[in-house]
Amino acid sequence: MNILVVGGGGREHAIVKKLSESSRVEKLYCTPGNGGISRYAECFDVSATDIDGVVALSKKLAVDMVVVAPDDPLVLGMVDALNAEGFRTFGPDKAAAIIEGSKVFSKDLMKKYNIPTAKYEIFSDSDSAIAYLKSENSYPAVIKADGLALGKGVIIAQNEAEAIEAVKSMIDGKQFGESSSTVVIEEFLTGPEVSVLSFTDGKTVVPMISSMDHKRALDNDEGLNTGGMGTVAPNPYYTEDIAKECMEKIFLPTINAMKSEGRTFKGCLYFGLMVTPKGVKVIEYNCRFGDPETQVVLPLLDTDILDIFEAIYDERLSEIDIAWKNESCACVIMASGGYPQSYEKGKEIKGLDDKGQLDSAFVYHAGTKFEDGKFLTSGGRVLGVTATGADLSTALKNSYAAVEKIDFEKAHYRKDIGKRALAAL
Ligand code: AMP
Ligand code: GLY
Repeated sequence: MNILVVGGGGREHAIVKKLSESSRVEKLYCTPGNGGISRYAECFDVSATDIDGVVALSKKLAVDMVVVAPDDPLVLGMVDALNAEGFRTFGPDKAAAIIEGSKVFSKDLMKKYNIPTAKYEIFSDSDSAIAYLKSENSYPAVIKADGLALGKGVIIAQNEAEAIEAVKSMIDGKQFGESSSTVVIEEFLTGPEVSVLSFTDGKTVVPMISSMDHKRALDNDEGLNTGGMGTVAPNPYYTEDIAKECMEKIFLPTINAMKSEGRTFKGCLYFGLMVTPKGVKVIEYNCRFGDPETQVVLPLLDTDILDIFEAIYDERLSEIDIAWKNESCACVIMASGGYPQSYEKGKEIKGLDDKGQLDSAFVYHAGTKFEDGKFLTSGGRVLGVTATGADLSTALKNSYAAVEKIDFEKAHYRKDIGKRALAAL
């Protein structure tokens, strides 16, 4: 089969790499892709949000399946447009992608179907939001933009002044445009976070190996929120008991709720969970693979991913056995100095071979381009240096050893990825 993957970050590199291991895949394409992906798939310059462009490219290449990986094209309805032209796809349609596209939708869904989540209220005018904050008078308070906001739409306000400022800039200042004209204000929860990606065809849900993200820019969870500075899998807080509780109270109820709402979800449903003293609660849903969770989860998958994608499209996921390696995996993100704020691009990356790789680890490219035989930085998150091992400490040792061999000007990475997970073992 010939497959087109839509997207151009580390997550898409991980999907392309896994597809390249399938015996049934003949040709791999990616748009827009990046420097590292271009060594595994032919890349094009159609943007990941250009629905007409991706449909036209799919026709030109006569592909057998299109995998839509990022949130924006899914929420915009790229899968619907491709299906209408007869293409087989991986990813939810627009009606189902709303589970990530609107926090108001997902919070109301959880309330209606009794799925555990933080207590919340919804506001579209700042005066009532501020009156509510004053009456609750409980801090930290969590303020979330309703729509997509490049992962920046969540503010944890430590006091009333910060909360009022967040509400005003989101609703009145249109900080995230229409995405923040409505906000959710919710109760602050505590406890370790667990990411669980799942495969689902709308009837069956199969959780993948759990993982743990590290969202803050600096060691000891200090600094600004980022897209994710590193991940480990499995997540030691996701015990067998917790997994059982999640399946009964969260995973199955969610896919059944989506079906009941006429929004059958097919693809990868991402559960962002918090293990609170009062049980596991949903922090967020994503309608897609996580980044950089995918980089540590897919290397542990022992089943042909194309078989899974096809079974989901054909709604026969229950017929497939999905197997996992009994190992651990760690991914350390190397970012451009200054990320997640301003940073420079175009720095030469040293230490990689002509495939953008090195021995003993797999280097997922997030923001690179390949020019005149060299890899150059082209984004905030640049590389996800990933290694497996018999246990987590070996996987971490292997990825940090590889990080030491790679260099570009002002490279920044956290030195404590996996520390919290190791402490829990
Ligand atoms: P989200 O984009 O909804 O995943 O939120 C981003 C991050 O904010 C999460 O990964 C959590 O660390 C934090 N967060 C979100 N909601 C809450 C909450 N209700 N209580 C505590 N932390 C939260
Ligand atoms: N790493 C978090 C996300 O993909 O949303």
